[in-house]
Amino acid sequence: LQIILVLCFLLFWLYSAGASSVQKLSNIEELKNAEYGKSAPHHGLQLLFWFAQKVLDVDKNNNLILDLNFDPHRGDFGFHLYENRQGVLPLLSWQSYYSVGNLSYPAANALPPYVRRYYRNTNVPEKNMDRLIVSVDQNRPNRMFKVFITTHNQEKSDFDPSKTYEIDPALISEIRYPIDCRLHEEKKNMDDERCGQFLKQIEYNSIDCTYISRRKKRSPLSQCNTFEGIKLVIKSTKQGSAKLTWKIPVDIMKNTKKVVVNIDTWQNTHSSDRKKKFTLYEPSGDLETSVSLNAGLQPRLQLFDSFGTPVTWYGPEFDGANRVIPIRIKGFDASLQLYVEDGKACARLFIKKTFSNWKDVLYYSWVGFYKRSQHENHDYYTYQYAVKFAKVQSYNTMMYDIYQYKSNLAIAPEVQIRLLMNRNYNSVLAQTTSWESDEEITILPSKICKSVPGHKPELPLLWSDSEYFYGPEFYDANKEFPTAISNFDASLQLFTKDGKACAKLYIEKTFCDWEDVFYYSWVGFYKSSDDKNGDYYTFQYAVKFKKIESNSTKDYDIYQYKSKLVIAPGVQIRFLLDKNYDKTLAKTKPW
Ligand SMILES: *[C@@H]1O[C@H](CO)[C@@H](O)[C@H](O)[C@H]1NC(C)=O
Ligand SMILES: *[C@@H]1O[C@H](CO)[C@@H](O)[C@H](O)[C@H]1NC(C)=O
Repeated sequence: LQIILVLCFLLFWLYSAGASSVQKLSNIEELKNAEYGKSAPHHGLQLLFWFAQKVLDVDKNNNLILDLNFDPHRGDFGFHLYENRQGVLPLLSWQSYYSVGNLSYPAANALPPYVRRYYRNTNVPEKNMDRLIVSVDQNRPNRMFKVFITTHNQEKSDFDPSKTYEIDPALISEIRYPIDCRLHEEKKNMDDERCGQFLKQIEYNSIDCTYISRRKKRSPLSQCNTFEGIKLVIKSTKQGSAKLTWKIPVDIMKNTKKVVVNIDTWQNTHSSDRKKKFTLYEPSGDLETSVSLNAGLQPRLQLFDSFGTPVTWYGPEFDGANRVIPIRIKGFDASLQLYVEDGKACARLFIKKTFSNWKDVLYYSWVGFYKRSQHENHDYYTYQYAVKFAKVQSYNTMMYDIYQYKSNLAIAPEVQIRLLMNRNYNSVLAQTTSWESDEEITILPSKICKSVPGHKPELPLLWSDSEYFYGPEFYDANKEFPTAISNFDASLQLFTKDGKACAKLYIEKTFCDWEDVFYYSWVGFYKSSDDKNGDYYTFQYAVKFKKIESNSTKDYDIYQYKSKLVIAPGVQIRFLLDKNYDKTLAKTKPW
């Protein structure tokens, strides 16, 4: 009996150890041998290729760094929380898993066409089973600790542990760098081709005739892969309508009696609207239509043979924001996105729910709509105040609220929107890339910060843990911890030196652009906490505070200012965002 018990225990132990031990793939060869997603319509390898292109850097702890604008919590590219209830992936303590690749999410439209290709053109479950999962920390959502690829288990409502792999950063780097240096220069426009090369290297089988023939019973097998090389792209005319650019391989043109393109939203598969139907006579060209641009527009190609039987190929859906993720608004937990609706330029604001007083802080902020990125800030076509944007009810990100505004400016190449803090035309806090420009706004933390600290500590922990608690400074500050400055990674402390009231600012090192954001901010010194904001005894601008080199901590830079006000009971200091007296972001406890 004892032996059986020991055996049972061993088996149980092996089982539970195996439950969350995921095989790690370190190079292309291992990926190839893993037999993961190696045939159409699987899209897991394409997801991995796409993700590798998004990685900008690998830090010294082997974490993958993406653009600072990127945030899976906001639902970018269809990322959403994965709870790992069944323990398929290793358990996490303070990070969370986010999964991408469910192509039915509207936001997944922002994934490139090579990821969505088979999804559009087949109707078997395999087309939407693969996922890529990352582990992130809420405070630095552009840093990925771990990356996994996995696939759904059709029987169970979770992932299949035997088809789940961890991806070593070395493999990401291998995929990221093109095989051929010549290609590297043209990388931007070539991701599609490069993904094709990558798939070839893994020996991905792209022949999807089985799926085509299941959809169209009559399609003969000779049609396998005939769609290779077709390009259909929807862009914008100068008047906010859809412009179709197409390229159809000459041999397909030759073997086809008639080529028709429907431009319509995906749901309206049987549209009979003549305005949305176009016959193509040339193998390539541009066509300006009168169809208003809207998210989800899709060009559907119909190739008619001599019997008049059409075969349909579904082109890439138009993404309402042109596959551009929202841009960070400097110094705030908020971001801005340009998108199109009914051919008009629209602005979307993502406000983190924790930024609950945003309507006070951004009370005078406005979004300007510009016809061109070269136009001066005062040269807007139209504008709207941020606080007047309408809240979107249906959006389901747990951490953000979304507000939108539709302007009367027709979308066109070069259109840009900007968020300005106030009536001062120099107060730009965010600007989008211009519509259809190929450049991306890429912000890499190490490029704008001198140091990238680790996990963001909670303020009270920092001070209670450190020498400040016990050191003389703590007593100089009347044993008060610093007061957080609302919505910013900064805090304020009142202390005394030589009998005078002094202010100390703690600025988190990740808050690199604090001097821009706090350009007009000031600290007021008050004899009493009852004094009105305008009744300060003296004040100093935050950017004029002196940096204390030696006493900076790992995560904070410290700046201080000594006033002429004699310290006495009741003395208080306040941090105000700008010249406007009602924007108090922090108040210390009275001395
Ligand atoms: C994929 O997303 C759709 C739409 O949000 C949802 O209904 C479906 O359950 C998701 N599928 C899986 C397997 O998570
Ligand atoms: C820095 O901290 C040390 C010890 O806590 C203290 O003696 C010193 O005066 C501080 N320096 C400044 C410039 O505040």
